[in-house]
Amino acid sequence: MGSHQTLDVVRDGPILHVRLDRSEVRNAFNGKLVDELQLVFREADQDEHARVVVLSGNGKSFSAGADLQWMQEQALLEPEANERSAERLARMFLGIARCRKPVIGRVHGHALGGGTGLCAAVDIALCTADCQFGLTEVKLGIVPAVISPFVMQKIGVGRARTLFLTGERFDGNEAQRIGLVHRALPDEQALDAELKRMIGELLSAGPLAVASAKELIRAVGALSLEEAIPMTSKWIATLRATPEAREGMGAFLGKRKPGWTV
Ligand code: COA
Repeated sequence: MGSHQTLDVVRDGPILHVRLDRSEVRNAFNGKLVDELQLVFREADQDEHARVVVLSGNGKSFSAGADLQWMQEQALLEPEANERSAERLARMFLGIARCRKPVIGRVHGHALGGGTGLCAAVDIALCTADCQFGLTEVKLGIVPAVISPFVMQKIGVGRARTLFLTGERFDGNEAQRIGLVHRALPDEQALDAELKRMIGELLSAGPLAVASAKELIRAVGALSLEEAIPMTSKWIATLRATPEAREGMGAFLGKRKPGWTV
């Protein structure tokens, strides 16, 4: 998957492991990491062998969010360049959220600021119970702007009002309670066992169906119940006529495993 300065990227069969690799600054993201991460997720979209992406962090923590040294440098740029750099950061989160492959976040240690944002951008976040989260930006005199749409979609406006305004930290159990992560596990061993189980679930599902389900959630989220009917009817009518659906339903009825099983 090419060589990277700030990431450690390894494909293991159908699983693409993307590890943030700036452990000396707790995987805080600078411009290089933003660009590399965006490119890796674009490549994951195109990689027909990759069926699941796992995003994790090397070292003590998942991610300490934006690199504050880099944030200060961006603030000194001309206004247009400053804005362009912020937009690249926002598009990195969008690239993760829109990746056609399911993305699992493996979250340990700390996931602060943009680290919490990454948890919101992935499809399924799994964390350790003692992991520390927080939208800590206000403590630094800034705001969680580019991550706000992703975080608010996941936890809702009410919770965002408390967490964005106070910047308070909270643990993995609380992150699970508010829906920021799917599950908090007692320790890293249990986290990896759950990660393996989740990957197994995803790999036993039809690859095109998984991509379509992800797209369905995005499309339906913007519609009322009434508005959704023409779109969702067409959706299932199209999907159930695909070769993959024929294989999946045929396998069930024929009491055999579908061809995509690894
Ligand atoms: N940007 C730049 N550097 C960062 C950073 C960030 N977001 N987070 C950590 N670092 C650096 C530290 O300055 C330190 O550098 P040094 O070794 O040159 O002193 C190094 O990473 C290790 O951090 P340290 O605080 O010693 O590690 P820790 O394991 O005790 O604590 C954190 C880790 C993540 C809890 C702590 O570093 C922290 O609170 N970081 C800020 C997180 C934050 O609020 N992010 C929001 C950004 S918008």
